[in-house]
Amino acid sequence: MPAIIVVGGQWGDEGKGKVTDLIGQDTDYVVKFNGGNNAGHTVVVDGKKYALHLIPSGIISPNVTPIIGNGVVVDLEVLFQEIEQLQADGIDTSKLKISTAAHIIPSYNKVMDQLSERSLGNRLIGTTGRGIGPTYADKMNRIGLRIQDLFDASILRQKVQSALDRKNFTVTQKYGMEAFDVDAITAELLAYADRVRPMVVDCSKLINDALDCGKTVLFEAGQATMLDIDHGTYPFVTSSSATAGGACTGTGVGPTRIDRVVGISKAYVTRVGEGPFPTELDNEVGEGLRQAGGEFGVTTGRPRRTGWFDAVISRYATRVNGLTDIVLTKLDVLTGYDCIPVCVAYEVDGLRIDDLPSDQTSFHHAQPIFEELPGWTEDISGCRTFAELPENAQAYVRRLEELSGCQISVIGVGPGREAIIERVPLLDK
Ligand code: GDP
Ligand code: IMO
Ligand code: MG
Repeated sequence: MPAIIVVGGQWGDEGKGKVTDLIGQDTDYVVKFNGGNNAGHTVVVDGKKYALHLIPSGIISPNVTPIIGNGVVVDLEVLFQEIEQLQADGIDTSKLKISTAAHIIPSYNKVMDQLSERSLGNRLIGTTGRGIGPTYADKMNRIGLRIQDLFDASILRQKVQSALDRKNFTVTQKYGMEAFDVDAITAELLAYADRVRPMVVDCSKLINDALDCGKTVLFEAGQATMLDIDHGTYPFVTSSSATAGGACTGTGVGPTRIDRVVGISKAYVTRVGEGPFPTELDNEVGEGLRQAGGEFGVTTGRPRRTGWFDAVISRYATRVNGLTDIVLTKLDVLTGYDCIPVCVAYEVDGLRIDDLPSDQTSFHHAQPIFEELPGWTEDISGCRTFAELPENAQAYVRRLEELSGCQISVIGVGPGREAIIERVPLLDK
């Protein structure tokens, strides 16, 4: 199974980092294909917690070559801070590669992100404020800066100038702020050139060659299906392609080379930031889930909104990603409920619908139709086989599988690397 994509099946923070780490132990390359340091991926090994933002989670495994793909946006300051932190934790970062075509998040785009949110008032998106949206907008507007631009000072200056010609008008005229200075910004970026140079690769060539040689490549998504710029709850989304198709455009690998697409979903749902969330529990039950699951953002520390499992979204994730497998994480967090509601369909304007509505207004009006499944009280964190799970927990997983239209191959029963139940191996070993 040489090429395997890992994507988020909900609104992020499903446990992609943990699953990447799990598969990464038997993988040669882990490539991140979208997003930037808006992501926060947690890996727990032997009780030690690693929080990764920009660097692929595969870096924790010593045999993996981690690659930052062309679809990623890179904050150079964060990149080197993260490298230094990992080195301080004893992790070897010497194999890290970065695509020559990845876009750079210049400091002015962090300011633009925050100004944009402020100007939206109560219509804000609730972004992470890391400059992600403005940097992808610049990419599409063809005024972006790429990693390769760091190695030609005069081209870099021209490109910064082109971007600032547009930004400075807004900054000075709309916000009454001081203009960004082209020389200062250019110098700030050039200061990283020598440190970046040894890491730069042609990502597409490297990965395709590796696949030709029978190597195993894991494509690690940031964010998730419902935050995808095309398939998510637009405009309350991130600005990149977080679904499986993004793995191809974000790395330069063709769809025919992909063998498996694994969607990660929690046994319940969380969301950070604004936007619709049909099964949200804005009450003490939701607070209970937040506390039990430790649902606070890795990147911003914001409390995550919580709600029951939404099978409509899960079916949608199966469809838009072409999932071959689901990893269901955090089943342990649901221990102790008498019954667990699961959303099986929505009611929109008095009508039952089984599929995700394709228009925003209907989704905003969608009311969940719940089915109540019996809960369990036994501690399941030590279970390592499906048969060891209490009967009701097994039935919960089977029902989610049926509703999602995809096999649940792995179940997470705790944050640690070892806390999993593998029903179907994700890699042919
Ligand atoms: P990501 O963004 O998808 O990588 O997920 P995050 O790391 O932001 O959030 C997932 C959180 O759940 C992290 O704190 C993980 O350590 C934790 N986690 C992952 N899988 C499990 C699980 O099966 N059980 C429990 N209790 N925690 C888990
Ligand atoms: P991982 O990879 C959860 C959300 C933000 C906001 C919206 C847009 O850890 O699952 P952005 O800064 O991307 O322009 O913000 O997207 N968001 C995430 N939510 N997990 C993430 O990443 C997220 N990355 C962005 O909260 O609602
Ligand atoms: Mg996260």
